[in-house]
Amino acid sequence: MSTSIYSPASDRYPNTVGYQNCGKSGLLLPRISLGLWHNFGDVDDADEALKMIHYAFDHGITHFDLANNYGTPYGSAEKNFGKIMKSDLSAYRDELIISTKAGHDMWPGPYGDGSSRKYLIASLHQSLKRMNLDYVDIFYSHRYDPNTPLEETMGALSDMVKQGKALYVGISKYPLSKAREAYRLLRENGTPCLINQDKYNIFTRQIEQNVLPLAEENGVGFIAFSPLAQGLLSDKYINGIPENSRAAHSYGFLQKSQITPEVIAKISELNEIANRRGQTLAQMALAWCLRTPEVNSVIVGASSVKQLQDNIDAIQNTAFSNDELWRIGELG
Ligand SMILES: NC(=O)c1ccc[n+]([C@@H]2O[C@H](COP(=O)([O-])OP(=O)(O)OC[C@H]3O[C@@H](n4cnc5c(N)ncnc54)[C@H](OP(=O)(O)O)[C@@H]3O)[C@@H](O)[C@H]2O)c1
Repeated sequence: MSTSIYSPASDRYPNTVGYQNCGKSGLLLPRISLGLWHNFGDVDDADEALKMIHYAFDHGITHFDLANNYGTPYGSAEKNFGKIMKSDLSAYRDELIISTKAGHDMWPGPYGDGSSRKYLIASLHQSLKRMNLDYVDIFYSHRYDPNTPLEETMGALSDMVKQGKALYVGISKYPLSKAREAYRLLRENGTPCLINQDKYNIFTRQIEQNVLPLAEENGVGFIAFSPLAQGLLSDKYINGIPENSRAAHSYGFLQKSQITPEVIAKISELNEIANRRGQTLAQMALAWCLRTPEVNSVIVGASSVKQLQDNIDAIQNTAFSNDELWRIGELG
């Protein structure tokens, strides 16, 4: 990674992506956040990763989303982000919302997976070290674990807040009934749930039925992950699988088998709708998520500054005609 003397753009806030309160809380989230699941690990281009973090912050993206096991190998996204934090961003710590998570497979043995108090608290300590941080802004329970009582998982989250190691806590991918219970437990512990993080995009919209209304009822914010369906909702796969795309990598989570002729036909039609709106398909896909007032922010992944730039411009037009919504709904 090249060394840099970084000085953020002085117009990063007037020039912004826009901010919205996260649920009923006072915390403002940028409408577009940057996720470090792919593209920031040791197998990725470190110079491009650094440029993306700079570009994001220069354009008002204040929220960076991580997890203990992001990057190949696990932990490398946090470690690489931690280096940038130390060299370039430490002076701007109070302008940043940094989240991490634990819940999935991380280290060997009985305490490196699941949602026990032992795993979550040990993992938070590791994440803080890797990222060169004293605290994270948001700590998530990355998934519901049927083998751990919810009281134990929520108790661990609440203690992180009480100890000042996390400012807020959230949940991710929880079944509805468990989300309801989690909101109650966290409220009773005096550390209300800030945010729910779940998948939302044109192809995956189940959360509209009950996850979003339940979050709103409880004053909990919502942030969408994989808003581009891991890149499917862009024009990149219309004419084949480009080298270096997520689907082409052996370590990426998007499988070639997901790119079927039916999917390509849908993407091609969606691309035409986007072009008629004067947007790229990626921009329209993000704008479509952001049209929903309960979606406070979308977490985009990007493998280049060019993609990030494209994505940020989505904010220019988040209004849709009924005809557009109907046709997108048909294709989703
Ligand atoms: N809570 C959870 O369990 C969970 C699960 C998944 C993700 N997340 C969070 O959500 C974040 C985003 O997830 P995601 O990476 O799946 O998001 P995504 O935004 O749906 O997909 C990102 C991928 O789309 C492609 N892309 C992005 N912008 C593009 C553009 N303008 N034009 C063409 N292609 C573009 C890139 O693929 P190429 O690499 O092919 O260029 C990029 O890597 C993650 O980093 C993570 O923070 C959370």
